[in-house]
Amino acid sequence: MAKSIGLDELRLGVCYYPEHWEEALWEDDFKRMTEMNISTIRIGEFAWAIFEPEEGVYDFGLFDRALDAAQRHGLQVIMGTPTATPPAWLTHKYPEVLNASIDGTLYRHGMRRHYNYSSPKYRELCAIITREMAEHFKDHPAIVAWQLDNEFNCETNTFYAEDDHAAFREWLREKYGTLQALNEAWGTVVWSQTYTDWEQVHLPRPTVADSPNPHLALDEKRFISDNTIAFARIQAEILREVSPQHRITTNGLFGHLDSHALTDGLLDYFSYDSYPQFSTIFSGNDDKPLLDRKWSLNLSTVRDISPNFCVMEQQAGPGGWVNRIDMPSPRPGQMRLWTYQSVLHGADLVMYFRWRTATVGTEIYWHGLNDYHNRPNRRVKEAARVGKEFAEIGSRIAGTMYTANVAILRDYDNEWDGELDVWHGPLTAQSVNAWYKQLQYRHIPADVVNVRGGEPDAKLLGRYRVLIYPHAAIMTGQTAELLARYVENGGKVIFGARTGYKDERGHCRMQPFPGPVAELCGITVEDFTLIKGTVKAPKLRWTSESAAEQNVENKSVQAFAESFNDILQIEDSAVEVVAEYAESYYAGSPALTRRKQGAGEAWYYGAAFSEVVVDELIGRLGLESPVRSWLQAPEQVEIGIREGRKGRYVFLLNYGEEAAKIEVSEARIDLLTGEKIEGETEIPAYGVRILEWTT
Ligand code: GAL
Repeated sequence: MAKSIGLDELRLGVCYYPEHWEEALWEDDFKRMTEMNISTIRIGEFAWAIFEPEEGVYDFGLFDRALDAAQRHGLQVIMGTPTATPPAWLTHKYPEVLNASIDGTLYRHGMRRHYNYSSPKYRELCAIITREMAEHFKDHPAIVAWQLDNEFNCETNTFYAEDDHAAFREWLREKYGTLQALNEAWGTVVWSQTYTDWEQVHLPRPTVADSPNPHLALDEKRFISDNTIAFARIQAEILREVSPQHRITTNGLFGHLDSHALTDGLLDYFSYDSYPQFSTIFSGNDDKPLLDRKWSLNLSTVRDISPNFCVMEQQAGPGGWVNRIDMPSPRPGQMRLWTYQSVLHGADLVMYFRWRTATVGTEIYWHGLNDYHNRPNRRVKEAARVGKEFAEIGSRIAGTMYTANVAILRDYDNEWDGELDVWHGPLTAQSVNAWYKQLQYRHIPADVVNVRGGEPDAKLLGRYRVLIYPHAAIMTGQTAELLARYVENGGKVIFGARTGYKDERGHCRMQPFPGPVAELCGITVEDFTLIKGTVKAPKLRWTSESAAEQNVENKSVQAFAESFNDILQIEDSAVEVVAEYAESYYAGSPALTRRKQGAGEAWYYGAAFSEVVVDELIGRLGLESPVRSWLQAPEQVEIGIREGRKGRYVFLLNYGEEAAKIEVSEARIDLLTGEKIEGETEIPAYGVRILEWTT
């Protein structure tokens, strides 16, 4: 059962660092927060050196005073455990707690997150500080929740300290029992990699050509995830025992961590840190990238963990480190837009990072709401506007949930395996991007769903009319069965190239691709080729003109079968060839097929999805915007719906720097302004409308 934050009103918050400021500033800061309808602060997560200035000596005075001040202003507090930043005394005395690079070089004091999760000493010291804090703060009335650590696996998500190698060995013993089983799972028969003693087994270490054994590399990520959760569990258990009245969360979505398992096992709800302006500095090689709107995809993954969640850190200004990161300022209106982007996708508590820009340290250019000078600026005004709006409309929206009838499926094993395996990893990013963009532009809300293969998934998947599982190279029999049942019951599923050629150990199956879903799709892969370098993507030829195709104005746009080509062979007479390759030595062979089965359909596309192909497929799969009968909006506007007992709300988010014209053919009330909207109207640049959809 997914865990949600469970608020009955939208809340606004901000991250605050009392230890960075003169105490004389606190009262005014808190007063101004409450004037802006900021009701929650997150504190403490990096303050270990203040809580425990030397080993075993505790000083909670500064935070007691800060909590009392917060309490006087009616602020609720989320308290962080400070374990992301071990103090200098700690790493100096116990260097074994430090993390290391793959060649064993220790990461020293001076940054953050420089520790490893395996060190028994670090676990012990973290347990002690967590217990001390829990005992000390448990009765403070301002505290409502705890944040564990800060952003597990941010900055680095690999760990190569001595204790990590030892913990990995233990994890493997548990998993495989014998060295023989391990050797088999890792295929060590190749290149004389066979292990004859457990002591020979390590996490990846530097290898020739930086090429670790691929099966080991996959287990490495699974181990890191389990080990992160085991580390977090120590704190969660102490907090549950000592202050059971408080809720527990943690923030951030990072690599090598199964955040679903973390949340299900330890947390009350998940929190995300949303910095859409990263899109302006890392936009990839897409010539028309989604930019900040791409964060809707990230938020969709978060929503799959906690349908209603917290954004613990929402971008509140240009981000910047002294050395590593520099980014443009959000344009006027963009911060508010991003706040509603979070809300649309399920956030009921949104906390800005941070109240005031730090005047010292690595993040002196990571701008908070307030500038150093503390005088009114446009970001503070924008946040105050959001605060006012939340106060007005928040109780109507909180608890409602994003709704969609199409989902993009993902899973951790393929994500982790695809980091190393260049034969499928890059295909997924390309295809998900193509699908997500086209669904966004067509105003078709979409979910992202993590597949685990178990019974709970079966129920969940049944909600969707269409599932897109782009390149599940690792496909278990259990997942294949689940999807077959989904199709039998009326769902449509579509797979892309390289599906099903590996089992969960990452071994290639001695079966025709797509392995466990070959029967469901009614095809096998007869031949295949990577499309790369001088080998160009062949044209696709649609075998029949669909109604959608006839209506598409730009149907002259040629579709190409990009990145990889599975050349398909039909194995079942119920299979229809929807498109074939029009070029290369396999011209005329099937490229895209559909098999009707039970009440549903199984589709297979032998390539990576491009936007042109997706554009065509959306029509053929029968996907449509749920508001098409009464609302027309240009591409630059995201449309999504939150729905629940309290009502149904259509969010319109204009990511464009120009106003967007929309056409509303059935009168609706804009929740934000109370205006009745009918006919042609505008959403200003970076503007937001929330229309109440009553039938
Ligand atoms: C997050 C982190 C914050 C702050 C912010 C801006 O990753 O949790 O502490 O560093 O980024 O860089």
